[in-house]
Amino acid sequence: MSNYHIKHLEEYFQVYRKSVRDPESFWEEIAEEHFVWRKKWDKVLSWDFTKPDVKWFEGAQLNITENCLDRHLPTRGDKTAILFEPNDPKEEAQHITYRELHEKVCKMANVLRDKGVKKGDRVCIYLPMIPELAISVLACARIGAIHSVVFAGFSANALATRINDSDCKVVITSDGSFRGAKTIDLKAIVDQAMEDCPGVNTLLVAKRTGTEVNMKEGRDFWLEPLMDKAYADITAEVMDAEDPLFILYTSGSTGRPKGMVHTIGGYMVFTAYTFKNIFQYREPDVYWCTADIGWITGHSYIVYGPLVNGATTVMFEGVPTYPDHGRFWEVVEKHKVTQFYTAPTAIRALAKESLDYVEKHDLTSLKVLGTVGEPINEEAWHWYNNNIGKGKSPIVDTWWQTETGGIMISPIPYVTPTTPTYATLPFIGVQPALMDEEGKEVKGNLVDGRLCIKFPWPGMARTIWGDHERYRDTYFSAYKGYYFTGDGALRDAVGYYRITGRVDDVIIVSGHNLGTAPIEDSINEHPAVAESAIVGFPHDIKGNALYGFVILKETGTGRDRNNLRNEINQQITEQIGPIAKLDKIQFVPGLPKTRSGKIMRRILRKIAGNDTSDLGDISTLLNPEVVQEIIDEAL
Ligand code: PRX
Repeated sequence: MSNYHIKHLEEYFQVYRKSVRDPESFWEEIAEEHFVWRKKWDKVLSWDFTKPDVKWFEGAQLNITENCLDRHLPTRGDKTAILFEPNDPKEEAQHITYRELHEKVCKMANVLRDKGVKKGDRVCIYLPMIPELAISVLACARIGAIHSVVFAGFSANALATRINDSDCKVVITSDGSFRGAKTIDLKAIVDQAMEDCPGVNTLLVAKRTGTEVNMKEGRDFWLEPLMDKAYADITAEVMDAEDPLFILYTSGSTGRPKGMVHTIGGYMVFTAYTFKNIFQYREPDVYWCTADIGWITGHSYIVYGPLVNGATTVMFEGVPTYPDHGRFWEVVEKHKVTQFYTAPTAIRALAKESLDYVEKHDLTSLKVLGTVGEPINEEAWHWYNNNIGKGKSPIVDTWWQTETGGIMISPIPYVTPTTPTYATLPFIGVQPALMDEEGKEVKGNLVDGRLCIKFPWPGMARTIWGDHERYRDTYFSAYKGYYFTGDGALRDAVGYYRITGRVDDVIIVSGHNLGTAPIEDSINEHPAVAESAIVGFPHDIKGNALYGFVILKETGTGRDRNNLRNEINQQITEQIGPIAKLDKIQFVPGLPKTRSGKIMRRILRKIAGNDTSDLGDISTLLNPEVVQEIIDEAL
């Protein structure tokens, strides 16, 4: 019997040791006993972090949707798979059973196939949080197409870049989306993106808002009539374990977004096993992750992890503040949610409001609370623990990344004693390491360093779409033989990890990973801007907010500053999306640079954070005089 479900601390340590001592037989046992394979593997693992080249369950064949759907039909056919809670609380929730989901996925798969989508083709999905999003994802997996979900808050420009990067021929979208009191014309955004996407030959449009849209003859099709006509069964494509399942873009510190590629077998095993343990899922629990499927959290812990385990997973279309600040708690009460997984930024925003919003709801169904996406501060942790968990539901502070596919460092609830702000212990099979400035691993406890992982885990991304060299350079070149996460961390006296934040030019704003380079590129395109640099600064709700230092061209210096600020933010909204807007924009005469021309962000970060007590040695800068001028005018 494998240790699929860890139940106490002693068992955790024992299984952890086993997973490190003999990772291959450990993962082989898990894979063997809890999943459906068409053919077993020839080799559990082969790896080389210098190339890097990692393969799990090589030679195995499967279809992940048979694990998510078909195998549950005999025992869970009438169980709710997806519980859809609409934006408007007056609209009825939908309980989609495993049988219904299977049918819808098969129909959608047939629609895609009719439109010429074949195994290995990329399909872009740009949809709000409606059932069609999960159905599209699974339909792609059913026929072996690679899905590339783009968060529906991204702009036309960002969407086009992602469509073109992975050469998607088909895009699935909707007429519009509801977000709180707002209706967003999604199809119009896609139409705009299409001007730069000559390779797209088919747009499938789901109806959600009833917004009037343009349909281009021969290219655009309403989804519903096609689904109605489609056959409700389709043989699952037999896939290799190492075939790509999806591409998901994440920001890098430089250049274009990185299309992280996840492959089928290892990702399935890792997300399912982490889900089962880290949320202690037991039937008939109702599990709710508030993320959007446009992010990795939604892929792994709304869709794949829960469905592989036969869970009921809530899909929420709305926002935490609509119709009021009690919406999350109203939904918890209404559906008797047992596991609730959200982001620290949402907790901080809700903690600001009156406790009445919480107290009028019955939250006794809750057993496990989770957070993800950014460090959770002590105050938010206690508010969550006291007011939502009533001191009885353990909080799992889960650290992981788009690149890791699944949760890497986290308590196991009712197993690992928690400490506020600590992600605590590595999950089974995960081998973290902290590195010092010289690139050596720091051993022992009470140490800090840069967080790396020194052994492959099944859920790790295998490459960056179309750019394996960038994958190697970004993750495997800083420390030879290690995967570098980009985060800093400390290990306390008992070996618990606390993530201290990014050590590169990625800034986490409201739990969203934003690279500085694309935002700066967008600012620099404004005709009045000569150059710019952005940094993060602490923000009560968002965790970090963006501060832009902008040098104007001669032509811009006479212009009204507030107008310029609005125009710059407008430009960012159009090119990237509203999540990347700057909170503060300071116009500066110059940017502090090293003699080799590199912007000294460290200094700018201090100024933005209003902490200029210790700027370090600035005398070696190319232009040290500019520093005081920037400080004098800081916002
Ligand atoms: O800096 C870490 C932070 O989010 C980064 C990964 O972002 P992304 O790929 O968008 O994935 C987010 C959802 C998995 C990490 O490098 N991060 C994520 N979780 C935590 C965290 N920082 C601190 N504590 C966490 N629990």
